[in-house]
Amino acid sequence: PLLDPLPAIPALYSSIGFSIFAFLATIYLVPALGPAFIKANLGGVDLLKVYDSGITKEEKLIPESLGLVASSIYILSLILFIPFAFSKPIIEHSTVKKPQEGMTVVEFPHYQLAVYLSSLLSLLVATLLGFLDDVFDIRWRHKLPIPIIASIPLLMVYYAEHGNTNVVVPLPLRFIFGTLINLGPLYYVYMALLSTFSTNSINILAGINGSEVSQALIIALSVIINDLLYLPWPLDFKIPLHLLGNKAELEFGGVWNAGMAHGSRELVERHLFSLYFMLPLVAVCMGFIYHNWYPARVFPGDTLCYATGMAFAVVGIQAHFSKTLLLFFLPQIFNFILSCPQLFGLVPCPRHRVPRIDRNTNLLHPSTASEKQFPAPPSRLSTLILRTFAVLGLTELTTDPNTGVITNSTNLTILNFLLLRLGPMNEKHLVQVLMCSQVAGSIFAFFIRYGLAWLVYDG
Ligand code: UD1
Ligand code: MG
Repeated sequence: PLLDPLPAIPALYSSIGFSIFAFLATIYLVPALGPAFIKANLGGVDLLKVYDSGITKEEKLIPESLGLVASSIYILSLILFIPFAFSKPIIEHSTVKKPQEGMTVVEFPHYQLAVYLSSLLSLLVATLLGFLDDVFDIRWRHKLPIPIIASIPLLMVYYAEHGNTNVVVPLPLRFIFGTLINLGPLYYVYMALLSTFSTNSINILAGINGSEVSQALIIALSVIINDLLYLPWPLDFKIPLHLLGNKAELEFGGVWNAGMAHGSRELVERHLFSLYFMLPLVAVCMGFIYHNWYPARVFPGDTLCYATGMAFAVVGIQAHFSKTLLLFFLPQIFNFILSCPQLFGLVPCPRHRVPRIDRNTNLLHPSTASEKQFPAPPSRLSTLILRTFAVLGLTELTTDPNTGVITNSTNLTILNFLLLRLGPMNEKHLVQVLMCSQVAGSIFAFFIRYGLAWLVYDG
């Protein structure tokens, strides 16, 4: 059967409608509930602002963890949307009351419902974890495994659908591994780690106004653009199919988009599912960024980082595009690799690695890992890593002029790296540069996925 062309997918329009409500609710509720968060002791001082000496700490407090409001609105709109997402099977069921002989009655898509509900469950666990982290400041060693546990419902549903655990081997390596490798259980380990990565990597690329939510916004928009490529657009909308790595162009006369070309209702449904989860996410992020933009009136807290990170893991796993998704995380991957020496204790890691503000000029400078110098000389391994990073221009080292021993280094984050390479700048400018690098990363990701795929894979 032919697929419904785009104008005949009413659930998509309901999803857009819910997203508009979610945007308005976030714009209104975030500032309205701010004082209640301060009352509940959920406030933080903006580390990168200069205050007059007369101002007390209480006066400086900015409501923190308002991501809880954003993710509650997000989850609530996803819950309210459930009947709309399944409106088609519901209508089909109610019109066919007594199936006549020879009539095929469409089964209710229980599997899709399972996908939807397990995704909600994972999102709820992530929000809970994020909020607990805001309240109790959980040590990161302890909170690492929680997203893994939160992803078990997703993995079980993936398994139930006999989810694919094969990876296609790039052309140059085929003479060793063959065309496909079945990773089996390892593939599930990879997907579980994906959820830990997506949640934590957003959280550690933080500390300047608007950074957390802008990352989530740009990644969500990138996922949406990717999903749109797979929808059954009306005829005459032509995209060059060879870029999508398949040979279906001839069969379909080259007029359908990828989703049609694959001829697969399943593929379209997966990307619709992803859209249903990404549209309201974009909406709450847009509402939130309005209040979190420099100078921030509210902070997102870890709640927003975890909820958004889990939303990405959910769509990546459930809609089967986890590798494309990882391509949208290039700045986060870079920041994570750069951070590893500090995260794994090879280099001292202060509680906050945010840049340092120069009180006279209001410009941000790279901050250092230790206030004066490292408490102990770094080990051989640490020295090797730091020296390599320094040669690559990723960090700046202070050394003892007599012995040559490293005594300090700049904090290993992408924000400090940007300041090192581009020079001191103010906070607003830095977040704009960060956003540009995220957009550039996404453009590069699309190029790799659709521009180079044919070089590597013969589709
Ligand atoms: C992560 C980072 C930490 C960074 C912090 C900033 C790692 C391992 N951890 O820790 O280096 O300093 O995020 O969020 O990389 N804040 C601002 N301006 C902002 C946002 C936050 O000053 O725009 C400050 C506020 O004081 C706020 C605090 O950061 O209260 C929140 O920090 P939190 O999210 O608890 O830090 P972590 O996620 O543990
Ligand atoms: Mg945080």
